[in-house]
Amino acid sequence: MNTATVHAARALTPTVTQYWITASPGSPPLPAAVPGQHVTLRVGPRVKTFTVLALQDEGYELAVRNRHRGDRRDHLSPGLHVGAAIAVTAPDGRFTAESEAPFTHFLAGGVGINPVLAVLAGGRLRDWRLVYVDRGEAEFPFLEEIRQLAKEQDGTVVTVDTATLGRPDWDAIVGDIPAGSTIGVCGPTGMVAEVRSAVHRTSGARQLITDGATTGGVADMPASVEVECLRTGITFEAAQHQPLLDALNRNGVAVPSSCRQGICGTCEIEVRTGQIDHRDEVLTDQEKAESSYMLPCVSKSIGARLVLNV
Ligand code: FES
Repeated sequence: MNTATVHAARALTPTVTQYWITASPGSPPLPAAVPGQHVTLRVGPRVKTFTVLALQDEGYELAVRNRHRGDRRDHLSPGLHVGAAIAVTAPDGRFTAESEAPFTHFLAGGVGINPVLAVLAGGRLRDWRLVYVDRGEAEFPFLEEIRQLAKEQDGTVVTVDTATLGRPDWDAIVGDIPAGSTIGVCGPTGMVAEVRSAVHRTSGARQLITDGATTGGVADMPASVEVECLRTGITFEAAQHQPLLDALNRNGVAVPSSCRQGICGTCEIEVRTGQIDHRDEVLTDQEKAESSYMLPCVSKSIGARLVLNV
């Protein structure tokens, strides 16, 4: 990892902050990057991966969603303040401003807009279409910049605010994309998985390209999982092809939810026993590795038994 300093910061939305990261004084310059590549930041003990939006003054420009929910746990972002010393990996990824992929359509969720913005700002594309999902009118970072690029590049931007419209109908959205198109998709892993399933279900071939920072998933998961809920004393069997959040609520364990896309953090619950395939953009990499919490609207159990503190 390279040693770096937070050089400047500005709020983009109530939950998203833009940062400029430069090499620490006396340290070697940060490795060269192409906008759209991703880097992993270590802030104290916490680690998370972000897209390089642009290069500036031999440093990186990043946008980070700080979704600290006021609970007892610290989050990555409170340690990210101007002057903070952090560690940053070398950039990686091919979903970039120099991408040769013949994109015609983009699907972005939350700060998944970052790599899409980097690709569009590269100025190589025309006549593209973007469906941009986030929660709350005041969110949607970089929407103004994206709309400006749309004007210049004959692009079209459709926003889906899950606060008012609910969960996106990915089958319908993918079905509207002409067969033969190349779709760039960036967002929480759960959203990417849903889009991938929708592409498989929809007739006509479409190529799907992800930014690599959000893909993942576990191939061998049990078809169902036994879920024991400690506080409510309820135990039930949940089919894995449906959101665990729905199974919890159906079985009398009330878990609040909002975006149902792994973006807002509302449904977060504590895991006492079990390994999780995390598909959200809320938890840090460290939190995902620890698996002490999960977002049951999108994330799944890797094992056949889960014990939850709900
Ligand atoms: S409901 Fe928003 S993260 Fe689960």
